[in-house]
Amino acid sequence: MVMMGSFKHFILAFLVGFALIHLIDAQDQTGFISIACGSPDNSSFSEPTTGINYISDAAFIDTGISQQISAVYKDGYQHQVWNLRSFPQGIRNCYNISIVQGTKYLIRGTFVYGNYDGLSKLPQFDIHLGVNMWDTINITDMSLDFSTELIHVPYQNYLQICLVNTGFGVPFISAIELRPLSNKTYLSNSGSLALFARLDVGSVTGKTYRYPTDLYDRVWTPLNYNSSTTLSTSLLIDSQSNNYYQPPSIVMSTASTPINVSAPLELNWNSQNATSSQYYVYMHFAEVVNLKANQSRSFNVTVNGKFFYGPIVPQYLYTSTVYSTSILAIAQNYDLLISKTKSSTLPPILNALEIYSIRDLSKPGTNQQDVDAITKIKLAYGIQRNWEGDPCLPQAYSWAGLNCSYDSINPPRITSLNLSSSGLTGVVSVFISNLIMLQYLDISNNNLTGSVPDFLSQLQYLRVLNLEKNQLTGTIPADLIQRSKNGSLLLSVDENLNVCGFGSCKKKNNIAVPIGASVGVLLILSLIVVAVLWGLKRRKKDKNKVAIAGTESNIQTTSFQSIESIQRQFTYADLIRITNNFERILGKGGFGQVYHGYVDDTQVAVKVKLLMRVHHRNLTTLVGYCYEGTNMGLVYEYMANGDLDAHLSGKNNNILSWEARLNIAMDAAQGLEYLHHGCKPPIIHRDVKTTNILLNENFHAKIGDFGLSKIFPTDGGTHVSTFSVAGTPGYLDPEYSTSYRLTEKSDVYSFGVVLLEIVTSQRVIERSRENTHISQWVRIMVDKGDIQNIVDPRLHGNFNVNSAWKVVEIAMACVSSTSIERPTMSEVVIKLKECLTSELAQRKGESNYSVEMVNMNMITELNPSTRKLVQK
Ligand SMILES: *[C@@H]1O[C@H](CO)[C@@H](O)[C@H](O)[C@H]1NC(C)=O
Ligand SMILES: *[C@@H]1O[C@H](CO)[C@@H](O)[C@H](O)[C@H]1NC(C)=O
Ligand SMILES: *[C@@H]1O[C@H](CO)[C@@H](O)[C@H](O)[C@H]1NC(C)=O
Ligand SMILES: *[C@@H]1O[C@H](CO)[C@@H](O)[C@H](O)[C@H]1NC(C)=O
Ligand SMILES: *[C@@H]1O[C@H](CO)[C@@H](O)[C@H](O)[C@H]1NC(C)=O
Ligand SMILES: *[C@@H]1O[C@H](CO)[C@@H](O)[C@H](O)[C@H]1NC(C)=O
Ligand SMILES: *[C@@H]1O[C@H](CO)[C@@H](O)[C@H](O)[C@H]1NC(C)=O
Ligand SMILES: *[C@@H]1O[C@H](CO)[C@@H](O)[C@H](O)[C@H]1NC(C)=O
Ligand SMILES: *[C@@H]1O[C@H](CO)[C@@H](O)[C@H](O)[C@H]1NC(C)=O
Ligand SMILES: *[C@@H]1O[C@H](CO)[C@@H](O)[C@H](O)[C@H]1NC(C)=O
Repeated sequence: MVMMGSFKHFILAFLVGFALIHLIDAQDQTGFISIACGSPDNSSFSEPTTGINYISDAAFIDTGISQQISAVYKDGYQHQVWNLRSFPQGIRNCYNISIVQGTKYLIRGTFVYGNYDGLSKLPQFDIHLGVNMWDTINITDMSLDFSTELIHVPYQNYLQICLVNTGFGVPFISAIELRPLSNKTYLSNSGSLALFARLDVGSVTGKTYRYPTDLYDRVWTPLNYNSSTTLSTSLLIDSQSNNYYQPPSIVMSTASTPINVSAPLELNWNSQNATSSQYYVYMHFAEVVNLKANQSRSFNVTVNGKFFYGPIVPQYLYTSTVYSTSILAIAQNYDLLISKTKSSTLPPILNALEIYSIRDLSKPGTNQQDVDAITKIKLAYGIQRNWEGDPCLPQAYSWAGLNCSYDSINPPRITSLNLSSSGLTGVVSVFISNLIMLQYLDISNNNLTGSVPDFLSQLQYLRVLNLEKNQLTGTIPADLIQRSKNGSLLLSVDENLNVCGFGSCKKKNNIAVPIGASVGVLLILSLIVVAVLWGLKRRKKDKNKVAIAGTESNIQTTSFQSIESIQRQFTYADLIRITNNFERILGKGGFGQVYHGYVDDTQVAVKVKLLMRVHHRNLTTLVGYCYEGTNMGLVYEYMANGDLDAHLSGKNNNILSWEARLNIAMDAAQGLEYLHHGCKPPIIHRDVKTTNILLNENFHAKIGDFGLSKIFPTDGGTHVSTFSVAGTPGYLDPEYSTSYRLTEKSDVYSFGVVLLEIVTSQRVIERSRENTHISQWVRIMVDKGDIQNIVDPRLHGNFNVNSAWKVVEIAMACVSSTSIERPTMSEVVIKLKECLTSELAQRKGESNYSVEMVNMNMITELNPSTRKLVQK
């Protein structure tokens, strides 16, 4: 029986009066996972004082070194911390522990340094739970034990606990303990709970209690108030029934009470982090005095002067637990007061208290399918790199040889795998084909045998496949050959045993087909050649080349080290010669492939850049490209007035007039329209946003940054699937989260957001706004017919209401949640043109009194029923 408090946010839970059978045997360790870190492989022992059965950690981790604490410290400690595992190597080392998915666990890490290394150097390091930060462990005393504890429901059937070296000493861990809890306890509506304090108030023994006294193995530390006295009973608390929380009888049988009968019990604590710490409090009360008929005890609880719960009348020998179902109001300091009510003849008591802070552990890891695949690849090849924990997250610790796509909405995907020169043997692992978003695969320079497997052709986004320098034999799958011929895949099978596919079988030969090299693709390749290194002699070696017919190309050469800039035209055939048939890939930036080559004995980096063929007055012109060491950059024409964002956000003092805004919108729309409809094949920009709209000295807008752009597939498809970061939060097509595809309509969506910013000068995502996203915010205003509050207030009404409504209509149509409801960029351009023309016509006749006229218009427009949007 649970009695609910009459106050919405507080619950008083207790069970009374029924002869319930204990469902959990106090000696039962069912579900416990007790790991003594660093203890010998396969060993196990029963800890003498607690009876807990510990096992070695060796089965849960591959790395780290087994150590023992110095003998002088052992005496004072339970056996599970006599050993520890330290991690002198690697930044992040992780345990992988199988658990029961969906169970609420108490998860505890314990750390006893005990001068195990004889260096007396106290380390500080981080502990992560999966991809989420759990805690910073600051070992401040050689002989003390430190622990960190969570209450958390894992959503997978395993748990990864990672020790992270943050540069302040070698991480280690002594024990890991997991205890299943009742899922009725410790409810939180906002995250997992991190233990702040668990106190046995009014302890008479001064002892710390844990299992088997506490059947959940919570650790209770004694607390005695100076100005209070202890009340206690020798009788059992909760003997016949259980409060769900089941605090141990011995903890509940003692309580503190103020010496001064009318004084309150008071508890203070400082917030660990005043800006981000949020607390839950659990107070356990049980009357330990058999009250006389003329005695009563009742009290109220306040936190920081605010009523929390009351009146509380503790039950004789039964636990009542008082807790809030939502966090305490955030404060710097917390003051918890328990004061007797007026009618109470006795002062308040407190038997036990728990305080938890919220820890957000909800961030998901890398896409599960990718995790499973890469884990199997790791096992299949016995990869010895420090591949631990989540492959892509946290980004700073992502696995070497992997690249992932990151955005704010979706779990990361693995997009690139480089296992070149990794001593791989055996066949090409079939699990590679499960990495379906893979764009780049390099398994060159290993000892791989067998054929070039057919399953590689399932990797539909693959653009680079490097199988060079292995022992592969047989025929290359037709699909891969097809893709390499049509230019969508750069395939190299150079220096293998006997690989066939391009005509006759090639033995230890060069088969490399570069991007964009096919006959009949209607591309005019533009290439930039940049000289990076000087004075190095050209190699005389002249390898066999695969003859490729290509169209004429423009090549610009810029030598940036000498500041002298040369522009030169090369033919495609020149390019093949310069790069020795695209022999050596120097690198791969966000913007494509870079090849090594020679121009007149000068080493150059050659960038094959399809976008160079794009030229439009509303697109920024790519002037040059540089590649030096690990640095790559694109050089665009200079845009004197910077980006649009700076002008809208107010960073810039200049406030754009309504007309200027319309012109900018028009320019940007035309630039995008050209990419979508004027290019063959069409181009999706993928990152349309105000910071990518640049303004020249006359405030003409051009769209810049094609870093993410992709050419539409030429097979008649109308989408691209993304391989790397797609767009920017707030601008990203909501359909992307389900389809993982970006279409031209995704650009339309982003453009709609830009248009809303142009009109409103509001931030795209504003957490302080009730409707966080700009489109939600505008929609509410539109429904109210409130154009006055939609348009940037800094214009002081100096805009044409009709054209404002039109632009908002266009923008709202663009940000429709489904792509079919969105107009095309051509339609957008037509509509914007109409706005602009009518605006200009009106301006001409307006002369100097525009403000008043506009204001009059506005009043009529304020009627909500007068406008309906074009969106469906
Ligand atoms: C631990 O147990 C496994 C499996 O029973 C065995 O293969 C391994 O050799 C054992 N390790 C040690 C150190 O005894
Ligand atoms: C972790 O353990 C789970 C369950 O045993 C297993 O499925 C998973 O592959 C393991 N992960 C790694 C990275 O070893
Ligand atoms: C770790 O503890 C030491 C000693 O108390 C203190 O000086 C240091 O600031 C602590 N570090 C952090 C990050 O809290
Ligand atoms: C709590 O756990 C029980 C048994 O483990 C399960 O049947 C029940 O659905 C869970 N309740 C919640 C709210 O998770
Ligand atoms: C009790 O008093 C002692 C000495 O005055 C002080 O050090 C200690 O912090 C006090 N304890 C509490 C719980 O207030
Ligand atoms: C007892 O507590 C009350 C309320 O805090 C206070 O007003 C009173 O002075 C205290 N009496 C003594 C003797 O300290
Ligand atoms: C407090 O929390 C904020 C937000 O999580 C964090 O940025 C900041 O570093 C924290 N401060 C301290 C002192 O831990
Ligand atoms: C309460 O009753 C007891 C006897 O049962 C008596 O000794 C005591 O004085 C009474 N106390 C009060 C405050 O009435
Ligand atoms: C205790 O709480 C009850 C219920 O809200 C309230 O009626 C009473 O006035 C409070 N008493 C004191 C002393 O604050
Ligand atoms: C291939 O295996 C041979 C023999 O084990 C070894 O000598 C050679 O270094 C390996 N090659 C590569 C690229 O790993």
